[in-house]
Amino acid sequence: MRRKLLAANWKMYKTPAEAQAFCREFLRVMEGFGADVVLCPPALCIPATVEATRGSHIRVGAQNVHWDKEGAFTGELSTGMLLAAGCTHVIIGHSERRQYFGETDSTVNKRLEAALEAGLTPICCVGEMLEERKAGLTDEVLRRQCTVAFRGISGEKAAKLTVAYEPVWAIGTGHTATPEMAQEAHLTIRAEAAKALGQQVADDLRILYGGSVKPENAHALMAQPDIDGALVGGASLDPKSFAAICKAGA
Ligand code: PGA
Repeated sequence: MRRKLLAANWKMYKTPAEAQAFCREFLRVMEGFGADVVLCPPALCIPATVEATRGSHIRVGAQNVHWDKEGAFTGELSTGMLLAAGCTHVIIGHSERRQYFGETDSTVNKRLEAALEAGLTPICCVGEMLEERKAGLTDEVLRRQCTVAFRGISGEKAAKLTVAYEPVWAIGTGHTATPEMAQEAHLTIRAEAAKALGQQVADDLRILYGGSVKPENAHALMAQPDIDGALVGGASLDPKSFAAICKAGA
């Protein structure tokens, strides 16, 4: 049985003080409610978020990580830095990184390998663009993204791997994939994981859906057999709305 994971991607929103205020309110509304929850604030807010959630079941993740241990890579962060700051998770290959910052399938693979090697739980994002869906290429795109992302990763190392299916046309647009569309894509991803990492890893793999998840649609999406949680952007910025999504998932 796969437990649902609810992940908040705050993107480039919130200062440390705002992150702390979120955590205070979120912990209050989540009181007594056990779910696997991870908050991924901007890097600058990681220490404040770790501090504000200390002693709770809430985990903290970063939004990106570099594959080298250290070096002359201005603006990048290493796995060791994230671990030292108290992160347990890291988002890798988000479509905004791919679209605006030149992330490719092969750099996603390098980041994924480094994160797994370091003992972080990567949330590896894949998903098709609108034109690709319209051209009937969704399956092909997902298979290519997964094949390259999982390259060279052993089934043994992949135990912590988490994937997020995020159709690019659904991110921040209010156009959510229907539960059926998402379920179909999740099956494709699970099949690719089985090929690359083995059936056991694929069966245990948590595949989150992301793209305009809201309290109103969260339950129907996560009721699908292969949707194991959600990666939430806009609706995770408000503690009450993210808590409602977490409760809908569990
Ligand atoms: P959204 O973003 O929920 O605002 O659509 C999801 C994401 O980009 O992870």
